[in-house]
Amino acid sequence: MASLSFFLIALTSAMIIGKSMAIGYGKVRVPPVFRPSRWSLAHATFYGDETARETMGGACGYGNLFQTGYGTDTAALSTTLFNNGYACGTCYQIKCVNAPACYGVIATVTATNICPPNWSQDSNNGGWCNPPRVHFDMSKPAFMKIAQWKAGIVPVMYRRVPCVRTGGLRFQFQGNGYWLLVYVMNVGGGGDIANMWVKGSKTGWISMSHNWGASYQAFSSLGGQALSFKVTSYTTKQTVIALNAAPSNWRAGMTYKSKVNFR
Ligand SMILES: *[C@@H]1O[C@H](CO)[C@@H](O)[C@H](O)[C@H]1NC(C)=O
Repeated sequence: MASLSFFLIALTSAMIIGKSMAIGYGKVRVPPVFRPSRWSLAHATFYGDETARETMGGACGYGNLFQTGYGTDTAALSTTLFNNGYACGTCYQIKCVNAPACYGVIATVTATNICPPNWSQDSNNGGWCNPPRVHFDMSKPAFMKIAQWKAGIVPVMYRRVPCVRTGGLRFQFQGNGYWLLVYVMNVGGGGDIANMWVKGSKTGWISMSHNWGASYQAFSSLGGQALSFKVTSYTTKQTVIALNAAPSNWRAGMTYKSKVNFR
């Protein structure tokens, strides 16, 4: 009997350790992996038309979403979710609930824009994106996957999910030889970024500051140097290093693809 309870305790501890390894907590050296959050209630509307033209050039700085790979499965987040741009690139599953217009289909979208508050409208009558409301203003093609668009606004269940991306992080450059502004795209896993550093072939790691949306900047003379990036995920705190992501002849306007990504 005594040996049986010892066996059970040992088994239970092994299960607890196994679980902590799986989710990457504690001292076990397993890289954290982003897990879906719980389903919560919110509402969704749409903006623009079926071409999704209005969703281009959003507040995350992804520009033309067809060229940058996000397509039309996108949403603008209310201020509460947008988190001053730190939620750019995060991914959500959204499902219309409790309305005749619902299709019962789950759409997966990436946050590419902000839905700003409009204080001249009541938060429960048009001012859907006013804080503290949690709201998704989806592209019309994405909204049309979950509900009849004529409904205008529908209740939804949503949850954060890992962003599934093909290929590595992409760095789109702006600025000049003395000021580097980098838009980080195609971010997998949590999809979001907390901190970023750049290293020229002649410098150490230089901390970059958050500019707007998904862009980060360094005021340094980095012209003529191959550039590496160190990026930390906002949600999982995981860090990846993209060694020599850009060649020494890098220039503004170009996008450089790395081989690393979050999961
Ligand atoms: C805010 O709401 C008012 C009243 O409906 C509307 O006239 C105005 O265009 C809205 N502003 C924006 C920026 O959407």
